[in-house]
Amino acid sequence: MTYKMIGCFMAASSLCVLPTDAAADPQDIAVEARGLVGDLHTAFGKHHARAVHAKGIILEGRFEPTAAARDLSRAPLFNSATPIVVRFSNFTGFPDIPDDNPSANPRGMAIRFGPATAPMLDVVTHNFDGFPTKTAAEFGSLLRAIGGSGPGIAAPTPLDTFLAGHPVAKAFLTTQHPAPISYATTAYFGVNAVTFTDRKGHSRAVRYRFVPSAGEQYFGPGPHPDLNANYLQPELAKRLAAGPIRFDWYAQLGEPGDLLDDPSIAWPASRSLIKLGTLTIDRLASNSEASDRALQYEPGRMPDGIAPADPMLAIRAAAYPVSVRERQ
Ligand code: HEM
Repeated sequence: MTYKMIGCFMAASSLCVLPTDAAADPQDIAVEARGLVGDLHTAFGKHHARAVHAKGIILEGRFEPTAAARDLSRAPLFNSATPIVVRFSNFTGFPDIPDDNPSANPRGMAIRFGPATAPMLDVVTHNFDGFPTKTAAEFGSLLRAIGGSGPGIAAPTPLDTFLAGHPVAKAFLTTQHPAPISYATTAYFGVNAVTFTDRKGHSRAVRYRFVPSAGEQYFGPGPHPDLNANYLQPELAKRLAAGPIRFDWYAQLGEPGDLLDDPSIAWPASRSLIKLGTLTIDRLASNSEASDRALQYEPGRMPDGIAPADPMLAIRAAAYPVSVRERQ
């Protein structure tokens, strides 16, 4: 099997552009979402698995909020400690993608907050502060271009043509990012802006960031004995035997003029980061094929006090359940 090369990058500097009106017809969103899952299959094939981020591992732990989180959002999630279910993953829809393949970037971290019977919030992140495209529609065009540009297709391929007109996507796909030493040694980004509302009704836009307590650690260029096709999942088991894995969860505070509808552009590094709490991951969950199939993250699951700001979230919220249904 060949893996299409999907590179990666850190979105460059920010621009200041006004946000757009996110209102859209639910019917149109459902149609676009179904189309996008089809586009993911065009790029990666159908494997009776997640349409993307197919290779993953599930862990469990707890989240402890800070007082600062309660000041920023009235979400009940921030009142007390809650259980979490975390799934780390590799990019692409290939369930057996080697961990040392550059196309396995970006790595994913999905978190469900709250008890299994009453989940409160799902956050689905990856380890780049950016995304290849501004909109879901452009993402679909990129996926179709990837699907139509396999071996034997004459240049300029549909992907060459797409990238020529989309420099951010070109940087995302052509810049190599180092493989993390562990899923626990890389930072993860929510990328899509959300709105936090406090008890007094004041709202502000934030973007999520999860920073590993172990520090960010990556392999250098060239071969390394620990860098192989399946190093990441066993590494987690070994790491947990020595103690829990921790991430600090931050809200990056948007300021007037920061983009709410363009995840391809990072907000300025100077924006304040408010610590919302700490994730403590202390055990592997059941990782049978059945439990991986059954676990469903819903980017639209948000409690009162947190709401989508980026319109891409509505498309994501509609697309994930389509993939879940298809893989059962
Ligand atoms: C229009 C944009 C996007 C679309 C259409 C899309 C679509 C999907 C779909 C269909 C799945 C599989 C769901 C399942 O079977 O459970 C998925 C999973 C995932 N996506 Fe996205 N996605 C988008 C944007 C993003 C962004 C911006 C991020 C990161 C910030 C992201 C990170 C992930 C991760 C980590 C998973 C795996 C979740 C898990 O472990 O179950 N996606 N996406």
